[in-house]
Amino acid sequence: MKRIGLKMAIVAILASSAPSWAGESAAVRNCTWCHGTGAQGYTVAPRLAGQRPQYILSQIRSFREHARDNPFSKQYMWNAVAALDSQTARDLANYFAAIPPKGANDGDSTLASRGRTIYLEGIPEANIVSCYACHGPNAEGVRDIPRLGGLAYFYLKGRLEQWGQGYHSGTESPMPMVASHLGPNEIEALASYLSFVK
Ligand code: HEC
Ligand code: HEC
Repeated sequence: MKRIGLKMAIVAILASSAPSWAGESAAVRNCTWCHGTGAQGYTVAPRLAGQRPQYILSQIRSFREHARDNPFSKQYMWNAVAALDSQTARDLANYFAAIPPKGANDGDSTLASRGRTIYLEGIPEANIVSCYACHGPNAEGVRDIPRLGGLAYFYLKGRLEQWGQGYHSGTESPMPMVASHLGPNEIEALASYLSFVK
């Protein structure tokens, strides 16, 4: 497949009076019809805007190798990346990473402070590790460790539950082990807190 000119697409947006989506390249639209306008997330498809580029790439690889095998990944993403060449994948990852993310703010606000405590300190007596050390003080992520702040409550909850149910990630991910110690109350608190983090 030919390399897609994302910069050209941006120039096209500036140059035209058409609706803004019309200026997005076909490659971007192949993703945003599910991931929402500006890749801010839509129903079960998570926000990609502001996500770490190395993480987006690692997940594309993980979908392609069928390592990330939870139901929605299998149903939606295995096909969506099957024909993606590696240059386009890199361009898309950089493009989405550069879009400023909007917070979902859709968790239960009464659980947020409990979630924050677990995020920062873990619960040592229940073998729950703190999330802070890897995901960063503001849940902004680092290198290929994802940004969690402002992702949708439903998405975060689903991911944390599914690892506990035995679904996989890319190889060597600590998350199935981390999540296996979380109960339903901890998951709701963490997902609520994180949905409000900017
Ligand atoms: C048919 C709908 C659909 C299309 C098209 C689609 N996605 Fe997805 N995508 C999803 C859903 C649903 C998920 C959530 C999977 C899950 O819950 O595990 C997802 C998850 C992802 C993730 C993981 C995000 C995270 O935070 O872990 C990445 C990266 C991703 N998609 C990239 C892309 C790219 C790049 C494209 C375009 C080439 C694309 N998607 C096209 C529906 C879609
Ligand atoms: C040892 C480092 C480490 C710790 C500790 C850790 N994580 Fe992660 N986390 C990762 C890595 C690496 C990934 C990406 C690989 C993957 O998705 O399996 C990830 C992915 C995630 C995702 C998926 C985000 C998305 O966009 O799909 C969520 C949600 C998550 N972690 C939540 C947590 C929570 C909540 C805690 C604390 C209870 C935690 N993590 C502790 C390293 C860590």
